[in-house]
Amino acid sequence: MDDPKHSERASEFVPWVEKYRPKKLKEVIGHGPVVKRLEAYVKNRNLPHLIFSGPAGTGKTTSALALAHELYGEQFGQCFYELNASDDRGIDVVRGKIKDFARTLPFTEVPFKIIFLDEGDAMTQDAQQALRRTMERFSSNTRFIISVNYSSRLIEPIQSRCAVFRFSPLTEEEIRKVIETVSKGEGLKLDKAAEDAVVYVAEGDARKAINCLQGASSTADRISEADIFKISSRARPAEVAKMIEFAYKGRFGEARQLLDELLVKYGMSGEDIIQQMFREVTKLDVPDRKKVALVDRVGEYDFRMVEGADDRIQLEALLAQIMLLGSSE
Ligand SMILES: Nc1ncnc2c1ncn2[C@@H]1O[C@H](COP(=O)(O)OP(=O)(O)OP(=O)(O)O)[C@@H](O)[C@H]1O
Ligand SMILES: [Mg+2]
Repeated sequence: MDDPKHSERASEFVPWVEKYRPKKLKEVIGHGPVVKRLEAYVKNRNLPHLIFSGPAGTGKTTSALALAHELYGEQFGQCFYELNASDDRGIDVVRGKIKDFARTLPFTEVPFKIIFLDEGDAMTQDAQQALRRTMERFSSNTRFIISVNYSSRLIEPIQSRCAVFRFSPLTEEEIRKVIETVSKGEGLKLDKAAEDAVVYVAEGDARKAINCLQGASSTADRISEADIFKISSRARPAEVAKMIEFAYKGRFGEARQLLDELLVKYGMSGEDIIQQMFREVTKLDVPDRKKVALVDRVGEYDFRMVEGADDRIQLEALLAQIMLLGSSE
């Protein structure tokens, strides 16, 4: 017998990204033309090799799973095989597994199995060559779906054997739909400012949006803008913009004070801050040539920090640079 208390507790720990992962293609938010073509494949019970290309959290894995569930129904388990290409056991093991998997055909009307290869762009050139040969060898009864962030990282012979589907970051409206689904399901109360904050921090990534809601909900049912920024270590965009403006107008002391707050009060890392500065600098109301110079500076200081220079010193130096740009003609 299931202990109800236990299962209740267990269900609390289901990550919402899994709980709200669309099961059917038609439930996938956005990507209209992509979904339509995938549905046609299901209807015709046939598909070419596919590349799903796009940034994190936009629905690549979700769509592959939904496609396979619709194709195979109950036989899903025997017909869909998920592999991670960045697996350190190497392509040889992968090849062995693919061989075993592809050898037998299931009793379905679908004459092929699907191998879903995640993080395909983590493969070395050699591994990709090996994959290409494997694809050829088993093409009679296997289809590959290769998920990548950038399809250009795949070698040409693989690209040319696949139909490429691009998953773009979700639009603001689409992220709002994701938020609506989750908050309805969980009975969350979000005001407009909080919802805007989720859209801001998600940057088109549905996974980020959902994780940030789950994180914020653990402290309160009514979620505020501040909760969202805190959980995602982001500052309110207005504050970052204000810091840049102060610096630009020569009010260095005040800019520094705001920087202090971001580092100490919000506990943001230098990298987080500079990312947000980049976003805000492009929205600043200054002449274009100044904007170009500002973006250039932010890029330069970002690079220095990546190279290991001290965060605070670099950020203060960047503010000083912004001040110089503001005071020069
Ligand atoms: N288009 C979408 N519609 C609805 N929910 C989505 C969509 N895209 C992503 N999600 C949500 O985000 C979660 C992560 O999505 P998914 O695993 O498909 O991302 P991905 O594109 O494969 O990312 P990665 O490149 O990191 O592997 C899903 O479980 C789902 O909850
Ligand atoms: Mg994925």
